[in-house]
Amino acid sequence: DTGGYAHYLLKEIHEQPGAVERTLSGRLDERFSTAHLGGLNLDARELREIRRVKILGCGSAYYAGEMGAQLIEELARIPAHSEPASEFRYRNPVIEADTLYVAVSQSGETYDTLAAVQEIKRKGGRVLGVVNTVGSAIARECDGGIYLHAGPEISVASTKAFTSTVVAFALLALHFGRIHDLSPADGRRIVSALKALPEQIREVLGQQAEIEKLAAEYAESQGMMFVGRVRGYPVAREGAQKLKEISYVHAEAYPASELKHGPLALISPELPTVALVPDDELLDKNLTTLGEIKARSGRVLAIAHRPIEAKLADHCVVVPKSEPELDPLLLNIPLQLLAYHAAVALDRDVDKPRNLAKSVTVE
Ligand code: BG6
Repeated sequence: DTGGYAHYLLKEIHEQPGAVERTLSGRLDERFSTAHLGGLNLDARELREIRRVKILGCGSAYYAGEMGAQLIEELARIPAHSEPASEFRYRNPVIEADTLYVAVSQSGETYDTLAAVQEIKRKGGRVLGVVNTVGSAIARECDGGIYLHAGPEISVASTKAFTSTVVAFALLALHFGRIHDLSPADGRRIVSALKALPEQIREVLGQQAEIEKLAAEYAESQGMMFVGRVRGYPVAREGAQKLKEISYVHAEAYPASELKHGPLALISPELPTVALVPDDELLDKNLTTLGEIKARSGRVLAIAHRPIEAKLADHCVVVPKSEPELDPLLLNIPLQLLAYHAAVALDRDVDKPRNLAKSVTVE
């Protein structure tokens, strides 16, 4: 039942404020400005021994893991990295005792991710699951974890589970950070920002009609480029993935800094660019990139925190500002709507894109 929405995907996009509330529910500790995660099965002393975090997932779960790695590095200052689970076990990975492995999966049944977990455990490593489906194979196999409580996700392309996964990583990063050197003031800053997220997501969803118009226009392109820097780069990757999956429009994601080292050659009016332009310490660098694209007659759709001048962007979607570490989560929401409305404009099978399955339980 799509609950009055045209597709499950649209319903799930609109369920995100509630999904985030459930992921946060009972987990924020205002007194110590930290997060409580009852299922980690790791005490503070054990967590302090961890020197590295390795995150594994497939598809959108892998990109959510990239946002998670960024959050853990920034808030806890522990090196963290996300890798496709489908590749991991084929390179005879070195499993270290002081690395925490984190498997990400909405369904908890993705074979590649499950096999990576089994490989780590076989070698004596410790694995946490960031999983939506309670009691799923991956959840059962892990040593502990965080359930998303995002509710069932039916549409093949992940939206609310993606957002809830990033929120779960923010909680883990906060918890980790406060065990290490994240100050109480910074902890408070993140706690308040997390509490504000559901309302801010609602605000972005309120711009659906405007994004729908843009999507119809951009869906006609031969392809699209998605660019962002540092925190914005995983947003670009997930945005490109979503567009490819459901609209079949070719999309490439690049770090904005890499454009001039190759893909700038592709820029033309036929290949528009979606640029993530958060109001952070890289704003000026991002604006320079927009200038470089415009100078090559490229079209630009900016996702930003304030309107971008017309000579640098043809269109701009303005999203509410969170704390810089959490901004990626909100910058991603317009890209979900962009992909959805592009797919609808092109008359695609939105909830069941060709050649894809919700959960791939074979290799
Ligand atoms: C893919 C789906 O096959 O599996 C993606 O098409 C999904 O949408 C990926 O992100 C991973 O799934 P899961 O359930 O492990 O998060």
